[in-house]
Amino acid sequence: MSVDLNAKIPNNVGLAEDRRLQRALESWQPSFINWWKELGPEGTQNYDVYLRTAVSVEAEGWANFGYVKMPEYRWGIFLAPPVEGRTIPFGEHKGQPVWTDVPGEYRAALRRLIVTQGDTEPASVEQQRLLGLTAPSLYDLRNLFQVNCEEGRHLWAMVYLLHAYFGRDGREEAEMMLQRHSGDIDKPRILGAFNEETPDWLSYFMFTFFTDRDGKFQLSSLAESGFDPLARTCQFMLTEEAHHMFIGTTGVMRVVTRTCEVMNELKTDDPEKIRAAGAIDLPTLQKYLNFHYSVSLDLFGQEISTNAANYYTAGLKARFEESKIDDDHVLKDGSEKVTMFENGVIKEVETNALLAVNERLRDDYVADCQIGVSRWNKTIKRHKINFQLTLPHRGFHRAIGTFGGSSIAPDGAVITKEQWNKQKDKWLPSKGDRDFVISLQRSCIEPGKIASWVAPPGRGIDGHSFDYQYVRFN
Ligand SMILES: [Fe+2]
Ligand SMILES: [Fe+2]
Repeated sequence: MSVDLNAKIPNNVGLAEDRRLQRALESWQPSFINWWKELGPEGTQNYDVYLRTAVSVEAEGWANFGYVKMPEYRWGIFLAPPVEGRTIPFGEHKGQPVWTDVPGEYRAALRRLIVTQGDTEPASVEQQRLLGLTAPSLYDLRNLFQVNCEEGRHLWAMVYLLHAYFGRDGREEAEMMLQRHSGDIDKPRILGAFNEETPDWLSYFMFTFFTDRDGKFQLSSLAESGFDPLARTCQFMLTEEAHHMFIGTTGVMRVVTRTCEVMNELKTDDPEKIRAAGAIDLPTLQKYLNFHYSVSLDLFGQEISTNAANYYTAGLKARFEESKIDDDHVLKDGSEKVTMFENGVIKEVETNALLAVNERLRDDYVADCQIGVSRWNKTIKRHKINFQLTLPHRGFHRAIGTFGGSSIAPDGAVITKEQWNKQKDKWLPSKGDRDFVISLQRSCIEPGKIASWVAPPGRGIDGHSFDYQYVRFN
């Protein structure tokens, strides 16, 4: 399918040949722009931002870099090219040709999956809307805006599917995407983590590491879907998503680096002295990690889930890297060990593999998070500091699933509510911790300058140096 970049809505889905769909999407476009102006990055309408824009789905050269005013960003609809003769890779329809239209029996389930994914995209833009006022550097500011624009494009990707394949109720769902708002008491976003605030840049780096990584796993499992338009949409979204997680991995890494530098300069591990020097002590970083990891774990849902089993059997949502797994991809007879919390005890329970599909995805996510944490620890070690960041036990601070509402310490000890309340400020950011981190948030946007609590990046964007004028303020 050829790429039409000059259309009102850039696309490679042949929009010009489908007048009805084109009209429907063009009439949603102004609502989207209004939403962007109202709830997108605050006060940025006239900034020229050095952004990449998706212009093709070719692995080489899929994006253009250049200065753009964000409300004029070319949000387009791009699907990865179809794979000739692709068959459904899992579930009871395994081996049959993929669906190019929505199968009637799975209409409601597919719509639910698309709406749930789609809702997270504008939610994160809303959560991050004030961060531009306190960017630690121009480079970071530009990266924030890049992520925001691309989350906007991901919303477009899901709205396209709703409009193209779900008729009137699809159009209604598309409207609702702009009516629910992060943290709104009456119309909140669908998933908990997307109603939390992102009040500071440490939270933002943790969010892009942990919560955008949930996105990677959700999108990867949808990228194998038997519903081909969804699979192709998600495949291309993953290309952009990689940069979001890069921001998280390197962002936290840079904070860790700065902290270690200050510790070595001052020859201290006293949090008070480190804070006084304008850096964030490692125990506080651990608490932010604990918070963002635990709320992101909740996004994977119930450990034992008939919904997930049904999605899998129907061929709608797979496991992570489904095609690389060596089994029958039907899972009717398989079994899987799941960590459950029953009668006050954490134990391994053997269950049917189909029912454990959610947990399998969560396991893969945990392993992926650990890789990043290990990289941060290497940085700490390189500075000859004796401290390790760790992922807390998966039962820690959970709201959903078997551990929901239980009291589990980061090391996995089952404790009483009383003990939890006494110690929770040691494990999660306290009011004082948050106030301190927020006190460090000051706009530092002179090219080449950087805030006190974070180290500069190793390199800039698109071959430019760190001190490049990534944003021009008008
Ligand atoms: Fe996204
Ligand atoms: Fe993302």
